[in-house]
Amino acid sequence: MQQIDGFWYLDSFMESIAAFRSEFQPRTDDVVLLTSVPKTGTTWLIALCHSILHRDDKEEEEDSLTKMTPHELVPTIDMFYLGDQVQDSPRLLHTHLPYSCLPEAVRSSGSSCKLVHVARNPKDTVVSMWHFYNKIFESETGPDVTMERAVEGFCGGVIPYGPFYKHVVEYWEESRRRPEKVLFLEYEELCREPKEQVRRLASFLRKPFGLDEDNGDAEVEKVLWRSSLNRLKELEVNKSDEGLELAPIIPKSSFFRKGTVGGWKNYLTPQMAHRIDLLTEQKLQGTGLSL
Ligand code: A3P
Repeated sequence: MQQIDGFWYLDSFMESIAAFRSEFQPRTDDVVLLTSVPKTGTTWLIALCHSILHRDDKEEEEDSLTKMTPHELVPTIDMFYLGDQVQDSPRLLHTHLPYSCLPEAVRSSGSSCKLVHVARNPKDTVVSMWHFYNKIFESETGPDVTMERAVEGFCGGVIPYGPFYKHVVEYWEESRRRPEKVLFLEYEELCREPKEQVRRLASFLRKPFGLDEDNGDAEVEKVLWRSSLNRLKELEVNKSDEGLELAPIIPKSSFFRKGTVGGWKNYLTPQMAHRIDLLTEQKLQGTGLSL
């Protein structure tokens, strides 16, 4: 990995990241740039936004999520920058880049490009990362990355697109400074009050739901179902151990696991949990954010 401007990146994506940062120009009709630290709910956010924007597709078969895995429908643009031809307009895009490293054309006050960030509890994020990397680098002798090593890397900030806290706080602070530009969502809130959060997201995307119970609520339910982990993980397109077209090393199935809030309790020792809690307290102190 390499560190640039305080953040860590995988060597294999450096060229693409540099091209994205220097070349990308948002179009006036770009819908939104979704942002996240890996394993904090990217797949869900993509599916939710897609389902909100395409909720007029009546039949299940019309839903592109049945044909393409979310990460192919909305590829992470910094990892796989293909120039300006990515997707027809209007575009829904995703990046793992921190706010301060986004192209200036995206951040500038004149840009109409909106950003949605999803954040997640750090302990659940570490555990999700640990599963993900061990799924990719599966070995017959057991996990290649031990949980000790995963926690060490996380706490030291040495993870792809890390440090985690610096990344999250940048988006959090920008969402407070410019709420019309950056929407900050939390995975746990999406689980706790899905309808309210999806309504919030839809309004931000300028595609609000009706307020009446009959129609508005049914539409919200449809979006939640279409983007749900239960539905997506059972679709043939996501069950496959086949790799992503742009990153064959990553099986499509690796993005769908349990999605449990507090699932870390089954994996972290009390000492590991305590260490992460202390760091979280220290890093988020004074920000008004709690994760
Ligand atoms: P777990 O590993 O805790 O199960 P990302 O999408 O950023 O890679 O994050 C992956 C995490 O989101 C995994 O968490 C995965 O199970 C969960 N996830 C994937 N799709 C989801 C969905 N549609 N709804 C809720 N959680 C989802």
